Amino acid sequence: MGQFTTEVLATETKVSFDHAVQTVAKILRRDEVVALPTETVYGLAGNAFQPEAIRKIYAAKERPQTNPLIVHVAGWAMVERCVREWTESAAQLTRAFWPGPLTVVLQRSDLIPDEITAGGDTVAIRWPSHPVMQAVIEECGFPLAAPSANRSNELSPTQAQHVLSQLSGAIPLVVDGGHCVVGIESTVVDLVGRPARVLRPGMIHTNALSVATPGIEWAGSDDGSGRRSILRSPGMTARHYSPKARLVVERWEDRMGFDDAVRRLGKPRSAISVIAYNVIPEVYGFCWVSLVPHNSEAYARALFSELHLCDASGCEVILVEAPPCEVEWVGIWDRLRRAAVEG
Ligand code: TXA
Ligand code: MG
Repeated sequence: MGQFTTEVLATETKVSFDHAVQTVAKILRRDEVVALPTETVYGLAGNAFQPEAIRKIYAAKERPQTNPLIVHVAGWAMVERCVREWTESAAQLTRAFWPGPLTVVLQRSDLIPDEITAGGDTVAIRWPSHPVMQAVIEECGFPLAAPSANRSNELSPTQAQHVLSQLSGAIPLVVDGGHCVVGIESTVVDLVGRPARVLRPGMIHTNALSVATPGIEWAGSDDGSGRRSILRSPGMTARHYSPKARLVVERWEDRMGFDDAVRRLGKPRSAISVIAYNVIPEVYGFCWVSLVPHNSEAYARALFSELHLCDASGCEVILVEAPPCEVEWVGIWDRLRRAAVEG
């Protein structure tokens, strides 16, 4: 239900791609908002220079106004219009990772409206690599504000269908650019203070960032359990990326350990979905069982799709087998921990 009949545009041929880009640019010039694919997750995009468009993004997502948005650019000239000063560390990092899943926070220019930054004097900027997103920004000639195209706090979308499942009726259009290849949101790095700090981990991990900017710190803190948890970006709540079902992360060594983990949930198997990584459970009787890849990049690509499938199965609990605790997995762990916070 909603004010729109949400249309879906394909992009897999040159003709359909060009048609989608033209159609979307026309809508964005009218300060409407549309869902577009990026390499990380689908974004809900609007003209970053127009407060009216920004307000529509917050409204469609039901997002609190205190959570600032990322501004997406294509090209260095556009970056310059968005920031007050382009620093040496920004140049180093973005030369290494743009276009790609990296967002940098810098002092904002006067063209960036308060609505984007939640009133703050900094702005988060990213140059995405997805060809559809790049073509749309170039065609528009203005940068696009785009949070993930999900309702606030719900699962991020990595396929056009995921966007429809949450925002159908709330937006006029979704452009289908296929399955997002990164699969979790960009790494956010604060370059305003010193040292540079990672505010949100993603698939560009701290070791990779350190090569380009030595001395970068993770804004993590010890949460008391010996695990590191991430400090908040403004407006970030601990619970986020949440499936409807309760999510539990457990480690098990063998079938017996798995059976124990299932027993501890205190639910019948028919109410439980399992996302296994190493030890393959016997699938009989569970609501849904997925096996996810061992490689961290392939795991990230699959994660939100698997969680969407678990939710669609109607289960009450999602039991996730803990992945490794290595630096490549920090972004994935961040999403799992937030999804596991009780609402
Ligand atoms: O990969 C991504 O970054 C995706 C795609 C669509 O580009 N976008 C995305 O946007 O994840 P969103 O709105 O779901 O997350 C934006 C994050 C939030 O954690 C927000 O707090 C942080 O960026 N952020 C935005 N502006 C900021 C600022 N000025 N200072 C610090 N953090 C900021
Ligand atoms: Mg989001």
